[in-house]
Amino acid sequence: SPPAIIAPSILSADFGNLGAECSTKIAQGADWLHVDIMDGHFVPNITFGAPVVTMIRSHVDRPSEPSGKGTFDCHMMIAEPHRWVKEFKNAGCDLYCFHYEAAISSVAATEPADKTTTRKTSPKELIRYIHEQDMQAGIAIKPDTPVDVLWEILENKEAIERPDMVLVMTVHPGFGGQKFMASELPKVQALREKYPDLNIEVDGGLGLGTIDQAADAGANVIVAGSAVFGAQDPGDVITKLREAVNK
Ligand code: DX5
Ligand code: ZN
Repeated sequence: SPPAIIAPSILSADFGNLGAECSTKIAQGADWLHVDIMDGHFVPNITFGAPVVTMIRSHVDRPSEPSGKGTFDCHMMIAEPHRWVKEFKNAGCDLYCFHYEAAISSVAATEPADKTTTRKTSPKELIRYIHEQDMQAGIAIKPDTPVDVLWEILENKEAIERPDMVLVMTVHPGFGGQKFMASELPKVQALREKYPDLNIEVDGGLGLGTIDQAADAGANVIVAGSAVFGAQDPGDVITKLREAVNK
């Protein structure tokens, strides 16, 4: 697997103090910040939108190549992912990770296209569009979605239409602090067998008690919300998560 990338989920941060919470996590060793965007439609919860991302971005240095430290990994749990690509680019998002389920089901909703929804929403078109805005593209699958839907997308001949990252959800999206679903790890394993260099992210219920299973399956991008923000010593948890992946 590629080297570990530890991405604390700011869903578990103090929302009244987000800017400082984000810069502190970077100082404590976080590689990326995982930013959960929820619209109350795709998931039964609402977080915040692009204006808030703009404000917290101003508290964190831009990612420095090639390390990518400070990358804003925006997990878009929203029903119409194609509509917000430019807004999130302008807000400082570096990696726009949409849900496969939303991309395929929002096609019908946008035809005939009105002025704000002229973009096609097939996963490959959406990936191309995200790349055209100079962001990395991620594609996420929920626990009920089989990994097989991803093969065609990953095997695309056009590099611009291939994702930079796959996110395998290990909880039903919507809330922090849920129980890790080990049942999802065979998806990670299948992806890792075919794609040794792909960034494979896991999200939901990750912490010191579950990291070994996820790392063994081949995950290298580790999201952790409650495990990091709820820790006495977040820096120590970040270090241990990284060691478990890189061992
Ligand atoms: C859940 C979010 C996660 C969440 C993870 O829908 O996508 O990123 O913050 O929280 P923990 O790590 O507490 O399970
Ligand atoms: Zn998330």
